[in-house]
Amino acid sequence: MITRPYVVGNWKMNGTRSMLAEARAIDRAAERLIKVEVALAPPATLVHACRKEATLIGIGAQDCHPADGGAHTGDISAAMLKDAGAGFIIVGHSERRADHGESDALVKRKAEAALAAGMTVIVCVGETAAERDAGKAQAIVSKQLEGSLPASDSPAEQITVAYEPVWAIGTGNTATPADVGAMHGHIRAELERIYGEGGAQVRILYGGSVKPDNAAELLAVENVGGALVGGASLTAESFLGIIVAAA
Ligand code: G3H
Repeated sequence: MITRPYVVGNWKMNGTRSMLAEARAIDRAAERLIKVEVALAPPATLVHACRKEATLIGIGAQDCHPADGGAHTGDISAAMLKDAGAGFIIVGHSERRADHGESDALVKRKAEAALAAGMTVIVCVGETAAERDAGKAQAIVSKQLEGSLPASDSPAEQITVAYEPVWAIGTGNTATPADVGAMHGHIRAELERIYGEGGAQVRILYGGSVKPDNAAELLAVENVGGALVGGASLTAESFLGIIVAAA
């Protein structure tokens, strides 16, 4: 069953221990906001500390290596992140696809590693402005879903998809509710094609310049099961504004 809206803050490469006060404030408030499932994905360096500071909300990571362990200097496995306190992993964010050349095949391996470690996974997809302008947005997202999602026999209820149009991330150019509705409907159809009945249970988050003042409108769109929030998740005040709008 798709239940409460799922609102996830992605701190990206922001935050030192001074940010723990924000996590604590979000956690305290979340106790009163039971209509929304709230989670934070801090940098890996803060996963353990956030898990200790925030006991009610979900804590996750922003990436993992697909292997269980071994000679991969600087990388972190899903099991290590779980051990540090992460309950979910975001994979395939457009910033990782762009900054690190991550392919759909690699994203899929990472998603499957997260599931194998007993965690849930958020798989990100989304088109660039040029791809949208060329009328290819749905085709690009279909290709990303086909290549990046865990295998069709995976537990669909452990999988979340985040639709994040690249042109909307950090730009203030939020997609219109009509565009979001069309793309989320398309993603739902693809999920049901890939996972059968299980595809109906996959939550589809919208991400891209979600703010307290536009969250309610975006979250009211059909097939929008929550939000993946970047900049506005960096302070408790703005993130809680979004959570209140989602409730
Ligand atoms: O993961 C979050 C998204 O990239 C959205 O970021 O809310 O700063 O636009 P943003």
